[in-house]
Amino acid sequence: MMKAFYMTRFGGPEVMEYGDLPEPTPGKGEVLVDVKASSVNPVDWKLRGGMMKFVAGRGLPKPLGSDFSGVVRALGPGVTGFAPGDRVYGAVATMFGRPGAHAERVVARAKDTRRMPEGWTFEQGAALPVAALTATAGLRKCGDLAGKTVLVNGATGGVGHMALQIAKARGARVVAVCSARNAELARSLGADEVLDYHQVDVTAPGRTWDVFFDAFGQVGFSRAARALAASGVYITTLPGPDSVLRSALGGVLGGKRVGLAYMRSKPEDYAELERLIQGGVKVVLETFPLERAAEAFAVCEGGKVRGKVVLTVP
Ligand SMILES: NC(=O)c1ccc[n+]([C@@H]2O[C@H](COP(=O)([O-])OP(=O)(O)OC[C@H]3O[C@@H](n4cnc5c(N)ncnc54)[C@H](OP(=O)(O)O)[C@@H]3O)[C@@H](O)[C@H]2O)c1
Repeated sequence: MMKAFYMTRFGGPEVMEYGDLPEPTPGKGEVLVDVKASSVNPVDWKLRGGMMKFVAGRGLPKPLGSDFSGVVRALGPGVTGFAPGDRVYGAVATMFGRPGAHAERVVARAKDTRRMPEGWTFEQGAALPVAALTATAGLRKCGDLAGKTVLVNGATGGVGHMALQIAKARGARVVAVCSARNAELARSLGADEVLDYHQVDVTAPGRTWDVFFDAFGQVGFSRAARALAASGVYITTLPGPDSVLRSALGGVLGGKRVGLAYMRSKPEDYAELERLIQGGVKVVLETFPLERAAEAFAVCEGGKVRGKVVLTVP
């Protein structure tokens, strides 16, 4: 048996338990990993609440948690390129029903697993995949950022604090939007200007942005477009119907565009991320031991997250 923080049914925090689950075994093309760290993402409690229930909800009870890092323990049939003892990180597709990494062991597809660069900590590896690969995927759709003004809405959360730093590294002038208590963090990550969303409506007439990167995800194209420069682009992590429609029609209509920021995890995406970290992009994180996962979730669900919340396994 292994220790895990797992969901027993659909619902709120009350459906989660910390305790023993059977050890998983790797199938064809899969890797069994001794988890050293995993991180919490909003998708965890969205799945727990019933999002994509018929695909994601198979096989309860099971742990949540896409992001993981750890040490390879065993290989399933047909896996090449890894060996027991390798330090790895990656993301399992919990949205499609796979048991997650908030546990002592996780089984991941070999193609979702990557060797960790030298010098990385397990906490760093587990904090990065979902948030950082979503930020890089979104910013890739914005073209050359040098000299552009990039507004990052939700700039100190998991996706946002990565987008802020990556936009800055690509030569943009970055305006960070967050609550006042996180203003100093945003500045320390390189923001040129910080706006408090409790005080300022960033879609109000007056100022325009070349890129409106909505890491918070809830502004929507119709509102954001009011504050976009003539050929500006709105990037969202949480596309609503207006953003999806505009994105589909974008090539025809021209002008202001929408880009959908969906996490992509091809080897070249990880390679880009690793170059960014090598170049000085930092992951901000707070850690909790796995047995205190309920507290970690309360921090995230309570909107108190700064960067990433990471669960560690001794
Ligand atoms: N499409 C994808 O592949 C993908 C991947 C990852 C995430 N997502 C989605 O993207 C969203 C953000 O994810 P995350 O991991 O970055 O979440 P997170 O770590 O919880 O961060 C959310 C951020 O939103 C900010 N915020 C809260 N209310 C706001 C408001 N009214 N206006 C502007 N900012 C506000 C918070 O700032 P304060 O703390 O300062 O209030 C916080 O920094 C989630 O909905 C998630 O499901 C999508």
